[in-house]
Amino acid sequence: MPTATGELLGDRYEVPEEERTAAGRRREAFPDLVRRLSHQSVVKHFDAYADIDWDAPGMRIDPEDPRWELSPEDMLGGTAWYRSQPAGVRSRIGLHMMATFMKIGLQFEGVLKRGLLEFALRLPNGSPEFRYAYHEVIEEAQHSLMFQEFVNRTGFDIPGLSWWQQLGSRQVIRFGRTFPELFFVFVLGGEDPIDHVQRMALRGGRDMHPLLRRVMQIHVTEEARHLCFARHYLREHVPALGAVKRFVLSMRAPFILAVMAQMMMRPSGQIVRAYGIPAEVIREAYTQNPRQRGRTLEALAKVRGLLEELGLVTPVSKRLWELLGIWASPAAQPAAA
Ligand SMILES: [Fe+2]
Ligand SMILES: [Fe+2]
Repeated sequence: MPTATGELLGDRYEVPEEERTAAGRRREAFPDLVRRLSHQSVVKHFDAYADIDWDAPGMRIDPEDPRWELSPEDMLGGTAWYRSQPAGVRSRIGLHMMATFMKIGLQFEGVLKRGLLEFALRLPNGSPEFRYAYHEVIEEAQHSLMFQEFVNRTGFDIPGLSWWQQLGSRQVIRFGRTFPELFFVFVLGGEDPIDHVQRMALRGGRDMHPLLRRVMQIHVTEEARHLCFARHYLREHVPALGAVKRFVLSMRAPFILAVMAQMMMRPSGQIVRAYGIPAEVIREAYTQNPRQRGRTLEALAKVRGLLEELGLVTPVSKRLWELLGIWASPAAQPAAA
């Protein structure tokens, strides 16, 4: 029995209430907002197994199903190399990329959950953030179950990001306790681009596999709360930071965002090797493709806007944004900004 229905079952996706509030139509004090988000987690939440009918006949995954094919608007999908592959290979590449995307997503969520537990550890008794953080940990655990189940059913053995854990994750997790503002920039850096890509896919009107549609709908609905909390946490706490922490935040944010956005938006080394994608095709599709850059900027537009609003894009840090290729001049700003 689904624990929440409504907009999820229709073709049209409605922006949830908490997201509309984030857009500023109604102002409320931060603790009230946090309590309301916690309440939403009680009345509108999902279970990875109770709310997805994994074994229904229509949900079965066939790697050669044409619905997995990349669209011509996709960076790789638009290349002559991709279009010249046999239909079955085109479908496999699309599904392999989706499975990799989900594996990266669940690894990101692993770091996120551990960071949230660190964040909750230092909170005083009675703090509404404590309850909210635990709701979010529970929801992310359901997402990770859902993503891993999807990966398992594709039949691909996805390695995921082994370097991630070695290099950055311990530090990021510790920031949950020692520097939560930086931690929540990391959260937005991961969640905002995923959310953007999933919303675009849901609105795209393509013939989407029902299992993928269900997974994405559930994810987008719950992520709206997580994004709302992270944005409002930053709005509430960044203005009170001292000059040193503000400086560190302004300089580290563009690095975090550049790395996170790239991770989500191109095929893994495993895929490149498995299908023999030539280096010039990768260059054409990603490295030297202005459309790819435009899409990355579009995915980062919301979080960049928030950091600008909070005064965290300074003349010095702006140089970093430019050097990392994630700055668009106002004239070139994507419409979504
Ligand atoms: Fe999630
Ligand atoms: Fe999330």
